[in-house]
Amino acid sequence: MNNNVKKVLVSQEQITERAKQLGKQISEDYKDKYPILVALLKGSIPFMAELMKYIDIDMETEFMDVSSYAGTQSTGEVKIIKDLDRSIKDCDVIIVEDIVDTGRTLKTVSELLYSKGAKSVKIVTLLNKEARRVADIKADYIGFEIPDEFVIGFGLDYDEKYRNLPFVGVLKEECYKE
Ligand code: IMP
Ligand code: MG
Repeated sequence: MNNNVKKVLVSQEQITERAKQLGKQISEDYKDKYPILVALLKGSIPFMAELMKYIDIDMETEFMDVSSYAGTQSTGEVKIIKDLDRSIKDCDVIIVEDIVDTGRTLKTVSELLYSKGAKSVKIVTLLNKEARRVADIKADYIGFEIPDEFVIGFGLDYDEKYRNLPFVGVLKEECYKE
């Protein structure tokens, strides 16, 4: 295990097991549809890769990179760093996210996708930090509820590091910069 990790919160095995369940559920819920999974870069890449292996209906992947302006309100703006490659007009979209924290990012992205003409927008997230919610948004599919702790791994970073860890964990205190 990485020397900077204090403890593992969600193991690789737990993530795989949960991705199987969520993939199965999404396949059932969308069996007569053709969902476009929109992964928000960069954090949701490992989860997207794991989850879609267990979705056994036809689907597409898309990628978006957005950054919320600091201090933005729940209805605030997001800066689009990388936009979708295709139109999602009349499509059933599922946003794939690493973690829902305040919920501001997802609230804004979800509204943005509706404004692009999506028929439906749902959210699947690996992690949910309910205690930190500010924006009025709920994920439709949740991998794991976690306490109000800063986590790293399986896509989640601290200062762009640790995204490659195969589990979700908590950093040792001495690894945080001043
Ligand atoms: P929100 O708009 O506050 O919900 O922010 C969500 C984004 O903040 C996530 O996509 C992550 O990039 C980042 N984030 C929130 N909590 C954590 C954490 O515990 N570890 C790493 N990144 C986090
Ligand atoms: Mg993110």
